[in-house]
Amino acid sequence: MNFSKPITDIIRERTSRRTYSGQPLEKTIREQIIKLLENHDLKSPFSEYAGKARFELISVPEFELNERKKIGTYGLIKGAQDFVVGAVENSKFDREHFGYIMETIILAATDIGLGTCWLGGFFNKSLFSAKINSSSNEIVPAITPIGNYVQRTIKEKAIRSFVKANKRFSWDRLFFNGKPNTPLTLEDAGEYSELLEMVRLAPSASNKQPWRIIKDLNKNLFHFYTVKTNSAYSKFPPLDIGIAVCHFDLTAKHFGINGTWICENPQIITTENLIYKITWKEEA
Ligand SMILES: Cc1cc2nc3c(=O)[nH]c(=O)nc-3n(C[C@H](O)[C@H](O)[C@H](O)COP(=O)(O)O)c2cc1C
Repeated sequence: MNFSKPITDIIRERTSRRTYSGQPLEKTIREQIIKLLENHDLKSPFSEYAGKARFELISVPEFELNERKKIGTYGLIKGAQDFVVGAVENSKFDREHFGYIMETIILAATDIGLGTCWLGGFFNKSLFSAKINSSSNEIVPAITPIGNYVQRTIKEKAIRSFVKANKRFSWDRLFFNGKPNTPLTLEDAGEYSELLEMVRLAPSASNKQPWRIIKDLNKNLFHFYTVKTNSAYSKFPPLDIGIAVCHFDLTAKHFGINGTWICENPQIITTENLIYKITWKEEA
């Protein structure tokens, strides 16, 4: 994926937009998005453990009149005329894989000035699944509106204030040195500090920020975990970790820091309820 400016700038610019102009995407922008979806390599560090993912641009005119009322996304999204909808085959790391790829699309949309908003809970799943013709072997974990946004309404501001959308946990709650109760400082992180900062700024469902990273004490190995949640909420952290891995990976590439992703649980004894996901390993 090619971006017009540093990925760190785009990550800092991105914020959820729930209020749109009501106008469909301009023809050239629309074509640009379609091309982006068609040319996407659809790969992620989870590819080896995930089935195929696919993404389509779906627009309100494609909905029957009676369906249009149901797009409403529970009144949270206003004026959106276009959506990126994705499906992924059921597999071990399906949501993680989907999270990574969808976030690359969201960052590319941010780069060209469009608004987006991850919708993992509040959207009409059966309607959008039907629109993308999802098979019984696929899931549709999330969608995003995509388009020109306008000033936030009072309702949108209230949602943001409810989930404290502008705030993120401090470093000592997210990043650890060797073991879970030893915070990793900016100095400890060295050239990796900006990569971790980009993880910290990532969006997450209800802004819960369920990602935790433990750095190996001696090597540049970063182990990614999610915090265990109750079962009703458990489908979101896998998407969130996919997004976090995306931010880390794209930022490493931007700074020319070489590494590979491996799935080898280091078996670190964790006091917190952590689920191991993936590790980034520096390559000389
Ligand atoms: C996986 C995922 C699912 C989300 N689902 C919803 C949703 O259903 N409805 C909604 O209004 N926002 C949803 N959000 C947006 C988050 O609330 C938002 O990212 C978070 O509050 C941080 O705000 P920011 O995106 O402006 O940085 C979701 C975000 C993620 C990453």
